[in-house]
Formats: sequence, C-alpha cells, structure tokens
Amino acid sequence: MQGTVRFSMSVWAAVALGAAALAGCSAKSEAPRVVAASEVAAGRYLVTIGGCNDCHTQGWNTSGGKLPEGQWLTGTKVGWQGPWGVTYPQNLRLTAAKMTEAEFVHMLHTRTDRPPMPWMNLNRMNEADAKAIYVFLRSLGPAGEAMPAGTAPGEAVTTPVIPVEPPTPPSTRAANETKVAK
Ligand code: HEC
Repeated sequence: MQGTVRFSMSVWAAVALGAAALAGCSAKSEAPRVVAASEVAAGRYLVTIGGCNDCHTQGWNTSGGKLPEGQWLTGTKVGWQGPWGVTYPQNLRLTAAKMTEAEFVHMLHTRTDRPPMPWMNLNRMNEADAKAIYVFLRSLGPAGEAMPAGTAPGEAVTTPVIPVEPPTPPSTRAANETKVAK
C-alpha cells in the first residue's frame, strides 16, 4: 500500500514537472499561426503584414510597397536616433545567411535590445511562423551589403538619422504643460 502511494506521488511529480516543462516551451507553439501553401508563402506574408519591410527595406514606404523581392529586407543606412544611440535596420538576408534556423528562431524569441526593432512583438511569435520567416529569407538568398552596427548614445554618426523623439515647438510646449498641470 505504502509502495502504491509512493508510486503515485512520483507519477504526479513527473506529471507536474512535465507540465511545467511544456508550459515553458509550448507557449510559442500554441500561439496562433499562419497557414499557407508553403513555408515560403507563409514567410512572405508574415514579413509583409508584420511590417518588416517598412524599416528593413530601403524605399519600401516611398514606393508604396512596389519593390521587387530581390530588394526586400537588405537593410537601410538611415539610422534611428534616440536615447539608445543610433540603430540601423539590418540586412536580414545576410543575417539569415549566416545563421541556422534554430539560431534565428532563438534570436527572434529572446532578443530584447535596442529600439525601434519591435523585439517585444516578435518574442511572442509562433515558432512555426518564426521558422517560416527564416525559410523565406533563405529563399531570397543573400544580397546587398552589411549595414552599420549602430552607435552608443552621444557618439557621432555619418549617416542620415530619424530622430525618434519629436521636438516639441515652444508654443505647443507651454499649452501641453498647462494641460498636464491641471
Ligand atoms: C520600426 C522599425 C523596424 C521594424 C518594423 C522591424 N525592424 Fe527589425 N530591426 C530594426 C532595427 C533598427 C534593428 C537593429 C537593432 C539594433 O542594432 O540593436 C533591427 C534588427 C533586426 C534583427 C537583428 C539582425 C541582426 O543581424 O542582428 C532581426 C532578425 C530583425 N530586425 C527582424 C525583423 C523582422 C522579422 C521584422 C518584421 C516582423 C522586423 N525586424 C521589423 C528595425 C525594425
């Protein structure tokens, strides 16, 4: 009898451990995912709808999104400037070319560093979707050149930059301060 009790307790312990392990690694496989005819099609859809080209493709917005896939995601040399320094949307075709699928997926799920890269959103992406983005990038193949690595706060830059904190004209600043004070 005692043996039975001990046995069932260890079974429960195993079940609990298994559930904890699953909870840790399955959150991203239970998240909603894109269903498409192929992984490449899913990846193409995800980068388009996910807005990756908006930052990572030079001229995407000004062309109204009418650029051939050969130019997609090769990075931009216009930096984003804020309290973190300056960051450049990297050439994702080269990034994918030098990483394994597992490394790429791990990066999308774990990196939390500098803005305006929306890591906090990509951290929640379904694993299958993250893989599809990698497969799409690899299908495009490497192209273009490496982008600048970025600079620390206050460091001089030689490229154009987009200031992320908009300057507030003095006339509106006074009005805003009054509103906040009330
Ligand atoms: C608002 C602009 C913006 C958007 C939108 C954006 N990114 Fe980025 N991304 C950046 C910037 C800037 C960096 C560089 C960050 C740094 O240097 O720390 C970056 C870096 C990355 C990196 C790291 C590359 C490397 O080699 O280190 C990956 C991967 C990436 N982005 C993927 C994506 C994907 C996939 C999407 C779409 C789902 C996306 N990004 C959307 C701005 C953006």
